[in-house]
Amino acid sequence: MRAADVSDLRILARRRLPRFLFEYIDGGAFAETTLKRNVEDLQTLSVRQRVLRDVAEIDLSTELLGRRAALPVALAPIGLAGLYARRGEVQAARAAEAAGIPFCMSTVAGCSVEEVRAAVREPFWFQLYMIRDRSFMRDLLARAEAAGIDTLLLTVDLPVSSTRYRDIRTGLANASGVGGLVSRMWQVAQRPGWAWDVGLFGRPHQLGNVARVMPPGTGLGGFFDWVAANYDPSVTWKEIDWLRELWKGRLVLKGVLDPDDARACVSVGVDGIVVSNHGGRQLDGAPSSISALPAVAEAVDRRITVLMDSGVRSGLDVIRAMASGADGVMIGRAWAYALAAQGQRGVAAMLETIRAEMLVAMALIGETRVAGLDRSVLTSGPADLSGPPGPARPAVAG
Ligand SMILES: Cc1cc2nc3c(=O)[nH]c(=O)nc-3n(C[C@H](O)[C@H](O)[C@H](O)COP(=O)(O)O)c2cc1C
Repeated sequence: MRAADVSDLRILARRRLPRFLFEYIDGGAFAETTLKRNVEDLQTLSVRQRVLRDVAEIDLSTELLGRRAALPVALAPIGLAGLYARRGEVQAARAAEAAGIPFCMSTVAGCSVEEVRAAVREPFWFQLYMIRDRSFMRDLLARAEAAGIDTLLLTVDLPVSSTRYRDIRTGLANASGVGGLVSRMWQVAQRPGWAWDVGLFGRPHQLGNVARVMPPGTGLGGFFDWVAANYDPSVTWKEIDWLRELWKGRLVLKGVLDPDDARACVSVGVDGIVVSNHGGRQLDGAPSSISALPAVAEAVDRRITVLMDSGVRSGLDVIRAMASGADGVMIGRAWAYALAAQGQRGVAAMLETIRAEMLVAMALIGETRVAGLDRSVLTSGPADLSGPPGPARPAVAG
């Protein structure tokens, strides 16, 4: 099948990956209500069709956290991408760089920060989890800094890892148990292409950034156990001060959904936030990111950068998020599907699809600059998005 859009890449990823990996990417928490809402609420937002507005020259570029980006889009941090394709983070970072957009590397990537840095020209963004072992964090931040990274995303919506029932069904949640191992081996046996390319030659056992703190010979099971045991649920705003002392680059908090928390982020002096519910993988029942975005953007009042993710599957979704108050949009599962389906070529094709969809949608909306995307572009939608058109968008902060 020739993939035309993100939903096709999802189908190809399902065919290529062992089931436990596909379901890990595709699934969400509990009944997956928020996962569904993220997608549906975005797709329900209607945009205004405008005519006769000279859309011959459309410029999709913007500034994202101090750097020019060809699109108002970044690749969100996705853990274990090194398992979806051979040296997956390297392939994704290269595709992002070629497309002129930021790549954000996860703490729990399959490749190390040094390996990915050596594969691209420019430094990328780095995502950090608050880990109990602060010396591990200090070491990791020093490594990120040594790699020239200047933008850190601290993920704050994961004090504990939520329950994802699909991972129980596939045996992934019981990663170190014998039953889980047998079940996963069986699933791998059904996907010889993946087993050959990634399982055998992809060095999936190297465990990226956390390898240094793992006992030699630790497998996927031990890795999951370490990660689950090391999230720090005691973290408060005090630790943000601690991190601010330690990290002199840009600091962005990822996973903010509430206007009060957004105001607190401004007060503690971070450079930006990502309005996100972790793609519906954490608090099931939380509002969709797109429905939470307008109130959060209003609370922030352009004092810091507002990025948004969760549910974005098309260039039109990017436009909907920008019109709802985002300065930029992060893409999660869409790049994981693309990587699993076709490696770097797939991520490049997915980003080209997003770009092409944005160009068509901008032309039909009658806007030629992303700076022109504000609430006046929308006609109606979920939550409080149906109010009167807002003021024109002022210059992007940060
Ligand atoms: C398979 C998978 C792994 C993820 N790993 C991380 C991670 O390591 N760190 C993080 O901050 N967010 C992680 N996320 C959340 C994404 O960064 C992002 O918030 C989410 O995917 C956005 O929703 P979307 O997939 O609907 O676009 C992960 C998401 C998925 C699907």
